[in-house]
Amino acid sequence: WGPGGDGDQPRRGATGPVRVRVPAKINLHLGVGPLRPDGYHELNTVYHAISIHDELTARHGDTLILTMEGEGAGELALDETNLIIRAARALAAHAGMPAHARLHLRKQIPLAGGLAGGSADAAATLLACDTLWGTGLSRDELADIGAGLGSDIPFLVHGGTALGTGHGETVSPVLARPSTWHWVVAIADGGLSTPAVYHEIDRLRDTGTAPPALGSADALLAALRQRDPAVLGAALGNDLQPAAVSLRPALADVLDAGRAAGALAGLVSGSGPTCVFLAADAADARRIADELAASGVCREARTAHGPVAGARIV
Ligand code: C5P
Repeated sequence: WGPGGDGDQPRRGATGPVRVRVPAKINLHLGVGPLRPDGYHELNTVYHAISIHDELTARHGDTLILTMEGEGAGELALDETNLIIRAARALAAHAGMPAHARLHLRKQIPLAGGLAGGSADAAATLLACDTLWGTGLSRDELADIGAGLGSDIPFLVHGGTALGTGHGETVSPVLARPSTWHWVVAIADGGLSTPAVYHEIDRLRDTGTAPPALGSADALLAALRQRDPAVLGAALGNDLQPAAVSLRPALADVLDAGRAAGALAGLVSGSGPTCVFLAADAADARRIADELAASGVCREARTAHGPVAGARIV
């Protein structure tokens, strides 16, 4: 990874509030390997950061406090179990300082949606508290701390499009000439539990009813280089999709509706239940989103583009 682009970041800590924007992620390719002894599955994935953002503001305080507004307010626990609080504590422990901050989250990424919203917030917290406290860690060091908290956090520290291996925590950037891809994001009512979806793919594989595993991401990476949305659409794939559809059969209707509306391709995002559709261009994405929203198959349909930067100070 190159420099984080926060060269103007104060080393002695910030006096005023530090505001960080962080994107959601989708997986262009999610190849799920066998269950490992540590309870994680080996992954071959291509992460892609899209323009749906949460915003975290950190201020100095005498204790560690989290408040929030937006998506999931009133549902998300703001106590010690919250990944934001855990990330702040992990950074403070690493730096040997007290975890004192007043944190406020403005949330647009749906909860338990397969868009890594919780991991995004943790990545934002690491960057915001690093700046507030003047810890002065590099993005790689923040990503390493994040890896101990959640598989998707290192990617959300970096953003862009990246290959993920291990259980998803080992990321390396995909170096492609910049292209912008246009997406429609169909948000469901209610979330899906990530462990439950992984458990379901194991069950489907054990009973011989899962499609063959996708394996390596080589074909997807080659498709990205061609910069043609029709080629990329044909290469998208997610091993967790049959498991998410098995647990939430109505997702099949969402996928059908997006394709009928003219999307080049559609797939479940990560462990779902959010579905994402690739559009030929921005105007097409708007039209597909309007049609999906009108069809009533999802709670909300938003347009987004990618890749976008990871957590960054605004
Ligand atoms: O790392 P993270 O906390 O996001 O993972 C949540 C859960 O998803 C894990 O506890 C595990 O059940 C499942 N998981 C998995 N294999 C992965 C990533 C996550 O089985 N590579």
